[in-house]
Amino acid sequence: MTLESTRTALVSGAASDIGRAVCASLLAAGLTVLATDLPGERLDALAAELEIEALPADLTDPAQVAALGEHPVDVLAAVAGLPVVERFATSDPVGWDLLWQVNLRAPMLLTHAVLPGMTERGWGRLVYVSSDSARAGAGGEAVYAATKAGLLGFAKSVAREAARASVTANVICPGPIDTERSRAILDERPRLREGLLRAIPLGTLGTPEDVAAAVAYLASPAAGYVTGQTLSVNGGITMS
Ligand SMILES: NC(=O)c1ccc[n+]([C@@H]2O[C@H](COP(=O)([O-])OP(=O)(O)OC[C@H]3O[C@@H](n4cnc5c(N)ncnc54)[C@H](O)[C@@H]3O)[C@@H](O)[C@H]2O)c1
Repeated sequence: MTLESTRTALVSGAASDIGRAVCASLLAAGLTVLATDLPGERLDALAAELEIEALPADLTDPAQVAALGEHPVDVLAAVAGLPVVERFATSDPVGWDLLWQVNLRAPMLLTHAVLPGMTERGWGRLVYVSSDSARAGAGGEAVYAATKAGLLGFAKSVAREAARASVTANVICPGPIDTERSRAILDERPRLREGLLRAIPLGTLGTPEDVAAAVAYLASPAAGYVTGQTLSVNGGITMS
């Protein structure tokens, strides 16, 4: 039995394309994977296909998030997110709340639920999936980008607080990734797709597996000296 096979990862947004790839990569690394997402067929199908445990939960409900923390978790991969594309000036402030709840408060609540156990056991990996729009901005994504940018300051601060317990906290910022969600947007806007492909130095959209590989690295024992960092997986469309 390897050390990794005794460790457990909790993956939020597990039923999304990126979440599914993250579950598969952590499973391949030998971890026990707990998959959480909104209840439904997609989560059930994922759990059946990968033979992992599904923990349905609505992350906007603090009590449901706290219940997830009752499982001992060594690796948290916070993938769940809610995208909205709209002009900021005409957006309805009432709608901002849900984005903040899913994109920033939920990862904070998840961390609050699992960090005490990690600290007690003296080992942990916190990996947050943000977005390149948090670093570079993106027209039509002001509220989304603001909530995703909050993850950067949050992760760096938790990284400082938890470091002495060998708990690391890092952020992945995906650029344009070929997922069901981005396909739905780009299929309707072929000129946007062309422009995007021209702007990406590596010339293609990324894959969910590209993001998952970065998550798996940051979740691994090999990344023990990496904390408080932000890594873009974006084909070079922004560089910093
Ligand atoms: N696809 C991209 O190009 C891209 C780019 C940058 C960042 N991201 C980020 O990567 C992550 C995954 O993106 P994706 O495109 O694979 O999937 P997605 O954005 O379509 O899905 C995100 C997942 O979050 C879950 N979710 C939403 N609200 C929830 C709630 N209240 N409770 C529990 N779960 C909830 C959804 O059910 C879904 O499975 C997201 O955080 C997204 O913001 C994606």
